[in-house]
Amino acid sequence: MTIRIMGTGSYLPENIVTNDDLAKIMDTSDEWIASRTGIRKRHLVKEETTAQMSAKAAKQALKEAGLKAEELDLIIVGTLSGDYVTPSTACEVQAMIGADKAVAFDVNAACSGFMFAMNTAYAFIQSGIYQNALVIGAEILSRLMDWNDRSTCVLFGDGAGAAVVTADEKGLLGFVQGSDGTKGMVLACKNRLNNNPLIKNSVEPDHVFMDGQEVYKFAVSTVPASIQAVLEEAGLEVSDIKYFLLHQANIRIIQSVAKRLKADINRFPTTLEHCGNISAASVPILLDEVNKKGMLQRGDKLVMAGFGAGLTWSAAVIEW
Ligand code: COA
Repeated sequence: MTIRIMGTGSYLPENIVTNDDLAKIMDTSDEWIASRTGIRKRHLVKEETTAQMSAKAAKQALKEAGLKAEELDLIIVGTLSGDYVTPSTACEVQAMIGADKAVAFDVNAACSGFMFAMNTAYAFIQSGIYQNALVIGAEILSRLMDWNDRSTCVLFGDGAGAAVVTADEKGLLGFVQGSDGTKGMVLACKNRLNNNPLIKNSVEPDHVFMDGQEVYKFAVSTVPASIQAVLEEAGLEVSDIKYFLLHQANIRIIQSVAKRLKADINRFPTTLEHCGNISAASVPILLDEVNKKGMLQRGDKLVMAGFGAGLTWSAAVIEW
């Protein structure tokens, strides 16, 4: 028994911020951002919450899957930017969509969050514990940025993507994932400061810090290796794969992965031009866009891959 993706959904905040908009408030330019990253704009929340965006994406995915919220056994949200430390975003979503029978919890694996959440759902379904799961990646990264650090704040965006997965004979054909906590500080964001008056308070800032070049080196070596490993596990070749749906961090990373795999760049659809990097939400939003554009036929084989802070990485092969 494995899992099959039965429906997808996504939500992007209405407020769009272009590179030129950013150039009005900091020393940057459309030319610098676009040439180094491929990003031209991003959606940044004004009103929406992580849970509201997740619920909107979830409702679309449930509709396509033909499943009622009450039929869900499990909701897992991959996020590092939930609205509350507790309750989890997944519990908020459960209440918003009325999935009263579902067990709900979050997974924090940064930009691999949706993939780790999907593999967790797979483990529950494969072992026969649950049948129907809602897997979401959702982020409001704009609230974790240092808006004085032009080398990070221009890269990220906000949004949510969702997939409904159910027990089936076919679907997920292979999965690899990994973590390396020893390199955690190359991409980090400290939690809120300790306000206990009895201790000396830390003054470390609580916003995203990134060593961009170290992250870049990690991505261009680990992503192709994990894709090769998952293809081997599934007994498939690069040529068997219709599309490679990669985490949308940077077009140069995607181009480098395509080159290493000797695969045509046209098999790597992107959203980063209009979304930027939305961490855990990147892969499911991309999957939903590809699905909604009618680019997928039943039987197509796809690779999905996430990578990011932790460090964490993951790759899956699915049959659509
Ligand atoms: N606009 C204009 N100039 C900028 C800038 C911006 N938004 N951000 C940085 N710069 C400047 C730097 O200050 C530096 O100037 P200096 O040479 O005068 O000191 C110069 O551009 C080069 O900076 P550097 O950090 O060396 O650039 P880079 O070529 O490494 O590109 C990244 C920076 C972030 C685009 C690149 O490292 C990258 O893509 N890394 C991977 C990041 C990533 O994908 N993270 C998420 C993974 S999940």
